[in-house]
Amino acid sequence: MKSFILTAFTLLLAVTTASAQLTKVTSDVLGAHLNYGRGCSACHAPHSGSSGNGMTGNSNSGNSALWGVDASGLYGKTISTGGGKYVEVLPSSFSANTPDVSGMLTCLSCHDGNYATNSIMKNRVYETLPYTYGNRGQIPTLLGKNSSGASSYLGDHPSGLSAQISCGGSKWDCSISKGQVNMTGPNASRFVKNYGFFVQPGSYNNSAVVVCTTCHEPHSMNVFTVNSNSSSGLPQGTYATTFFLRGPYNPADTNVASNQTAQFCRQCHAELSNEMNGSTSGTIF
Ligand code: HEC
Ligand code: HEC
Ligand code: HEC
Ligand code: HEC
Repeated sequence: MKSFILTAFTLLLAVTTASAQLTKVTSDVLGAHLNYGRGCSACHAPHSGSSGNGMTGNSNSGNSALWGVDASGLYGKTISTGGGKYVEVLPSSFSANTPDVSGMLTCLSCHDGNYATNSIMKNRVYETLPYTYGNRGQIPTLLGKNSSGASSYLGDHPSGLSAQISCGGSKWDCSISKGQVNMTGPNASRFVKNYGFFVQPGSYNNSAVVVCTTCHEPHSMNVFTVNSNSSSGLPQGTYATTFFLRGPYNPADTNVASNQTAQFCRQCHAELSNEMNGSTSGTIF
């Protein structure tokens, strides 16, 4: 009996600690991607690709995920990210069988603002953050047309087929096979237990590459679900996120010692993690 009460108490304690991190949202999970009312069809046209949305340009976009936005202005364009070290030649059609089609061409068909202009963008973010680090309302969403000038992606995080994740050395003790990152070494698996490996690298010529959808999941703006399929030791449930990120990422956490946003970056930047630098700290919510 005594041990039953103790177990029940421990269980209750575990549930309370977990639920302190979990969140419930009342708003629609598509968030800013409700696209001012147009909904799913703003991105996926049920018929006829981008011409099904009344746009001219290459309509065979629909052959990939029923893509319904005209991205033809971006076909074959070169964009350089990460200060110019990562040169990406965008696919020349939606039929190119590379991860930068569904992972980049899609996003940039609205978020470029320079080569691709057939969009409904207002060029500002819509987070409701109680904590502000400057003026959130003025953060641009058109990446190819921001303060660094038209068509410049120099100030953007390395993305594209040349932005490759690596293992070993100062990186995670992981392995990459067929473009999949396996976080199996002692440090990597400890990190997965403490936070998780939620990002979804693209697979290209057996390497794991970083595209927009590696970090972003366009269907859920403010909530991220950890379930039994997740590679994570966090309690299952729904966590707060922002900016459609694939993983707990809440800059508005009321605990100023929270490290969840830094943990997001450490999924790939092992050399800057607690696990690789002798700290026993896990994820602090
Ligand atoms: C802002 C654009 C956008 C909106 C709005 C959007 N999606 Fe998507 N969707 C995408 C992108 C981009 C992909 C490809 C993602 C990837 O490869 O990781 C995708 C993939 C999918 C897939 C998988 C298809 C495949 O062949 O891989 C389905 C199903 C889907 N979306 C359904 C929906 C539904 C239903 C809605 C509305 C509730 C919706 N989407 C709203 C951008 C969007
Ligand atoms: C059909 C056009 C469309 C496509 C395609 C699209 N978006 Fe968006 N996105 C929007 C709109 C509209 C907003 C609201 C901001 C605005 O109007 O500038 C937005 C906002 C965002 C924001 C900021 C949300 C916030 O927190 O305020 C992010 C991040 C984002 N999109 C990422 C992506 C990614 C990644 C992809 C590709 C997987 C993508 N989007 C594809 C239309 C699109
Ligand atoms: C390595 C991860 C990563 C990749 C790759 C990435 N993003 Fe982001 N993105 C983020 C993070 C993190 C934020 C939120 C930054 C913050 O907290 O202010 C963000 C924010 C954004 C925003 C909101 C505006 C802003 O500048 O903060 C947009 C729009 C966006 N990303 C689109 C894209 C598109 C399009 C791509 C592909 C070309 C892309 N992202 C690739 C991590 C990434
Ligand atoms: C999906 C994996 C992934 C995630 C998540 C990620 N990065 Fe990276 N990052 C990379 C890769 C790959 C490179 C390029 C090669 C390298 O440095 O290993 C890179 C490079 C960088 C660079 C160097 C850029 C340059 O100009 O050389 C910075 C700075 C950086 N990342 C910051 C961040 C920040 C901040 C976050 C979190 C918001 C983040 N990264 C999240 C994979 C990632």
